[in-house]
Amino acid sequence: LSDMLVDSFGRFHNYLRISLTERCNLRCQYCMPAEGVELTPNTELLSHDEIIRVAGLFVTSGVDKIRLTGGEPTVRKDIEDICLHLSGLKGLKTLAMTTNGLVLSKKLPKLKECGVNALNISLDTLVPAKFEFMTRRKGHSKVMESIDAAIELGYKSVKINCVVMRGMNDDEICDFVEMTRYKPVNVRFIEFMPFDGNVWNVKKLVPYAEMMDKVRQRFKGLERLQDHPSETAKNFKIDGHAGTISFITSMTEHFCAGCNRLRLLADGNLKVCLFGPSEVSLREPIRAGVDDAGLREIISTAVKRKKDKHAGMFDIAKTANRPMIHIGG
Ligand code: GTP
Ligand code: 5AD
Ligand code: SF4
Repeated sequence: LSDMLVDSFGRFHNYLRISLTERCNLRCQYCMPAEGVELTPNTELLSHDEIIRVAGLFVTSGVDKIRLTGGEPTVRKDIEDICLHLSGLKGLKTLAMTTNGLVLSKKLPKLKECGVNALNISLDTLVPAKFEFMTRRKGHSKVMESIDAAIELGYKSVKINCVVMRGMNDDEICDFVEMTRYKPVNVRFIEFMPFDGNVWNVKKLVPYAEMMDKVRQRFKGLERLQDHPSETAKNFKIDGHAGTISFITSMTEHFCAGCNRLRLLADGNLKVCLFGPSEVSLREPIRAGVDDAGLREIISTAVKRKKDKHAGMFDIAKTANRPMIHIGG
């Protein structure tokens, strides 16, 4: 293995998140403004072949986990083909997808055949009318169907991502925990993070400690599970529950010290941290005919520029970034 994926703090990045599209079939408030965002012209998005080439380079350098994101990855027409080729890369162990679940249930059997082996599905409310308000679209029952379909298809880990916002869905935390009593899913409560266009405000953030208090008051027998050093989530099991719960505490207890993640955006930019504007285009050198050695050099230089941690929620909120829909989480 080369040191292409080691940053100046010694962190090895074995996890690549690839955003396949900037488009989405929902309009979630925490992700984008009501009017939508400017889309990169199609000709400036990475093609199937370019994605496979870049991913191949990462995998030969030590990446063993790829997560497909968007926008919404399932709206990309060549998604199955991309999955098939990515899952065939020698050395890749996990091909994961983060999806809103809206059109997932009908695509799931094919995606599984094409090698997708881990699914994170976004679901922020159990109340259909609230779903429509938060996502500015209909579709709650379709997402619920997709979750059940994923379980039935035998996915070992089905995770549900729930972004908690004060006054919006913080009254549903215990209902989500209750859902894990019979459903073998991992519900992850996520602290609301600031991105361009999502009108973040610290008052809308529900801190981990506060969420935990609510859960402890209602549920006994919580046990903290050992999590992997580079995991985003703090995991818990509850006596007698089929599923588990977790907290993603990006704002009040960041987990940057163990960060193993890099991001390839749909426009071909490599983004070394979720926060902060540090990006470098891989598309431009690729289209100018760069060879693999040259591409490795560009990637390595970008990785070495990665900061040790994000700047803290108040500074992040003031610094220009991209809208979440471009980054994919
Ligand atoms: P697993 O691989 O299943 O652990 O999922 P994941 O948490 O890596 O990815 P997912 O797309 O499900 O993201 C869940 C939440 O974690 C989202 O809110 C992401 O924005 C957030 N997240 C993912 N990676 C990072 C990261 O590197 N830093 C921070 N601060 N948050 C992250
Ligand atoms: N804060 C925290 N999580 C977010 N996500 C999207 N926007 C935000 C935000 N502002 C989550 C989505 C999805 C994952 C990729 O990131 O719910 O599950
Ligand atoms: Fe890694 Fe940046 Fe996320 Fe911290 S904020 S965990 S450094 S991507």
